[in-house]
This record gives sequence, C-alpha cells and structure tokens, in this order.
Amino acid sequence: MQRREFLKTGAVLAGGLAMSRGKAFAAPVGARVEVMVNEPLGAIAPEVYGHFTEHLGGTIYDGVWVGTKSKIANTNGIRTALIDKLRQIKAPAIRWPGGCFADSYDWRDGIGPRDKRPTRTNFWADDASARQLGDDAVQKFEDNAFGTDEFVHFCKLSGSSPYLAANLRSLPALEFDHWVEYCNSPAGSTTLAKQRAAAGSAAPYNVQYWGVGNESWGCGGAFEPEDYASEYRRFTDWVPRFGTDLRFIGSGPNDDEVNWTHRFFQKLFGGTKYYDRRNLWGFSIHHYAWNMSQGRTTDWVAGKGDALQFDTAGYYECLRESDKVESIMLDHWSAMAEYDPTHRVKLVVDEYGPWYRPGTELDPTHQLGQQITMRDAVATAASLDVFNRHPEKVGMAACAQLINCLNALFFAHEDNFIVTPNFHVFDLYKEHQCGTAVRAEFSAPAAQYERNGAPASFWSVKGSASVKGKTLTLTLVNADASSPRETELVLSGATMASATAVTLANKDIHAHNTFAQPDAVKTAKLEVRGGTIVLPPASVTRVTVELG
Ligand code: AHR
Repeated sequence: MQRREFLKTGAVLAGGLAMSRGKAFAAPVGARVEVMVNEPLGAIAPEVYGHFTEHLGGTIYDGVWVGTKSKIANTNGIRTALIDKLRQIKAPAIRWPGGCFADSYDWRDGIGPRDKRPTRTNFWADDASARQLGDDAVQKFEDNAFGTDEFVHFCKLSGSSPYLAANLRSLPALEFDHWVEYCNSPAGSTTLAKQRAAAGSAAPYNVQYWGVGNESWGCGGAFEPEDYASEYRRFTDWVPRFGTDLRFIGSGPNDDEVNWTHRFFQKLFGGTKYYDRRNLWGFSIHHYAWNMSQGRTTDWVAGKGDALQFDTAGYYECLRESDKVESIMLDHWSAMAEYDPTHRVKLVVDEYGPWYRPGTELDPTHQLGQQITMRDAVATAASLDVFNRHPEKVGMAACAQLINCLNALFFAHEDNFIVTPNFHVFDLYKEHQCGTAVRAEFSAPAAQYERNGAPASFWSVKGSASVKGKTLTLTLVNADASSPRETELVLSGATMASATAVTLANKDIHAHNTFAQPDAVKTAKLEVRGGTIVLPPASVTRVTVELG
C-alpha cells in the first residue's frame, strides 16, 4: 500500500471515529479535508502577513497620515483607527515608501522639522490617474510631511516591523549607507543619530528589512538583470550594521520571468568570489491579478476588468490569475536552487492582489483606488493559503496596498474609516502567524462555469493548516460562486476535542463595504457538526480545533 493511500485510510478511520463519534463511516460529502497533524512543513513567518504602503494616491495622505492638527482622531498625526485595526490583526511588517515611488525618493527630504521639508514631484504625478488633480494635490507635489520618523513611529504604534525600500535607481550607494546610519546608528554616535534624536528618538530604530531597489527591470531603473546584480552588489556590500541583523531584499522579476532570476543569481553569486552571499536575504516577487478576461492586453489601464461590474466568468478568471502566484513562486524557487542549493535566500512576495481599472475609487485623490468585494477576499485568502503551504520558501509578503489603494484592507477619507472584506481575511488568518504549517490535502469537485461560451472549471475547496501547541488552525476557501460545500474534516495523527468556526461570506460575490454600509460584509460563526462543516459559496472560513 502506498504511503499516501495508507495515510488516507488511516485518517478516515481516525478522523471519522474521533470527529464524528458513533459515525465511523461518514456519509459521502461534497468535499474532504485531511490534515496530517504530525507532518510539519515549517514555521509560518509572521512577516508573511505583512502590508505595503506607498506615497501613492490616498495611501499615506488621507489614509495613514492625517496630520497633527487634524480633527480626525490621530496619534501624532497618524490615524488612530488604523493603528487599532492593525494591532487587532497583528500586522507584523509594513513596507514603505514604495513601490515605484521608492526609486525616486530621497529619504533626506522626509527628515527634520516638517515645515522645512522640501516639496518634490511625486513619482505618480504624471500618471493618468493624477492628471485630473490640481497642482496643490499632495499626491502630485509631495510635501514630505510623512517621512522616515513618522513611518517608524507608525510601525511602532501598530506593533509592526518597518521594511524600508531604498532608492537604487536615482541615489548613490552612499545614501543607502546613510539611511541605514540614520535609522540604526547608536544614540549620540553620529551626526545622523543626533538628527534622529532631534526628531524624537535618541534610541536607534534597528530597522532590519531593507529592499534594495524596486521592480528594477521597470520603474526601478529598467536594468538588465546583470547590471542590476552589479548595482545590488555595490549597494549591499559593507553596509554598516550597527549590530542589527540586516536583511536585504533584492528586486525580483516581472511576474513569471524566470530568465531574470537565472541571470541575476548567476551574476550576483557567480560574478565574484569576494561577494558575501549573506547580503541577499530575500528575493522579491510581485504578482498582480490583472483580471482581464480577454487575456493580456497592451492597454494596461482600460484593458483591466472592473472591481464591481463582473460576471461569473470574471469572478473565476480573476481567481485563476491570482492563483498563479503559486506556480510563479515555485518556478523562481527552483531556478534559485541552481545558485543557492540550500535555499538560504527566501521569497518575499511584497506586492500581490487583484488590480482593476479606475472608476471605483472612493475619492479622485485615491489613485489606483478600487472597491474590494467578496471576490477579492477569496483571492486574498487563497494567496495567504499558498504562502502558508510553502513556509520554507516565503520569508515575507506584503499585500498591495494597505489602505485606499489596490487590494486594500481599509478605506479612509477625511473622518470616514471602514474595513474592507480583506481586513476580515487577515483577521481570520492571523492565527497562522508563528504556527507550524502541517500538510493538508483537499479534495472537492471543481466549480463549473462558462467562459466565452465554452465550459470551464476552477478548484472549489483549498486552504492551509497550522498547529500551535494543542490548537490547530485550518483556513478554508470555497471558491465555488454558487454551491455550498459540505466538507468532511479529517485529522490524521490527532483527535479533535472541540472545533469552532468563523466564516466570511455573502450571498452576492459583488458584496462590499461602503461608508454608508460599513458592515455589509462581515464575519459570522459557522457550525461544525460531527466533523463536518458546510462552507458557503465564495467564502473564507477559519476552523479552530482543540486537539485531544
Ligand atoms: O502598487 C503599485 C505599483 O505596482 C508599485 O508602485 C510598483 O512596484 C508596482 O508596479
């Protein structure tokens, strides 16, 4: 008997007996989830649940930063309601200041007395989304009110680690050293440490995570991978460490361009015997679900689908596009193995989520803002499950972006503040942080639909499982837009003492929250009866099992 078959048989008996007492052979169900409690995959780094904030549209200004003189409840200028919610979901890390903005940003513009900081052209000022804005819009001409000290303070208040993205395209390497020095040099030790103290923090910030360039194949310099590798080497070799375990993250490819990965690693690791490979801690991957049911198009704005107006095929095609993150990760991971066989370098999926065309943003200043529906919650949860299932690969991730932009968890405008369905996903999934991921198998009939007049299908039930002490956290996505899935939960290697579940579901896949209806989409308890749970259509569920 094959090991997998044996496990399955054993599991049915163990799970059936343990989970549905007196019902050794459960009746056939629509789906089956088998969790191998004693088959660990690795620890889930909390940073996998990270976030991304860019000086883009309403993310920083109107989103995070309201200013110290604002009537909106704030903590030293930072929106207090946002801080509270980030604490609730245990936000582990936040990336800043971009994105594309990072490679045009001079960190020195954002330090010192706020009224003396220069006003500069924002990277996004020329974007079509900014043309309609007046020249007094901070989104076009950045006044630098929010800089390094404000960001680090925001992270501290939120209980998160800062992840700074350094400018490799338009600043010299010495400026990178100096930014590290500003953040991390000991109290009173350097001129920059004294400037930091004048801004309120004599103690060093000890920033650990540093991105070195962003999308260096594109807005980060349009580099060839070999040229970027040479720059990366120059930037990261001999950076002052001040006792902090610096973790540098290199810019990865555009989506699935594995060629970039080969050429970058070949040059960086093969190019010189003197380079210290430990200077590359993480390799960044970006994957957006463009939701173009017609396939890729050259018109990257109008060619995208709409955040709110979509049919069933549009729902599934967006999920299919989003789901590619797993194969992209695996492809790059195996390419990296050729140069880093022990896999010391981790994947950092620091931009992911659906990206739609403009038109559903809550305010014209919210460039790349879009509504967030149940479709996005399902896509986001499925991505988090992918990360959980590959704990040895993913060192960090960041949902793009935190507030008022793309796949947001929050919307804020002036004194309005609400959570989106994505917030609830992070709230459900937070229990995976620091857990040990364990193997789980999901079997369920695929969801059927019609695409361009032809039958098409997509998986229906998938998820991930992790264990902390005697608690098993199992998250499940039912991607089927119309059918509930009666799902049998089977444990192997443990018994179930009790189980509870919470679900995020709505009868309409287009459902979303607005300032007028902030709780249109919210979580509710779900019954687990005799080891079986009925997952609603297009839902995200967390099952918490106390192990016997
Ligand atoms: O998140 C918006 C943009 O998408 C980022 O600035 C860039 O890195 C990516 O192309």
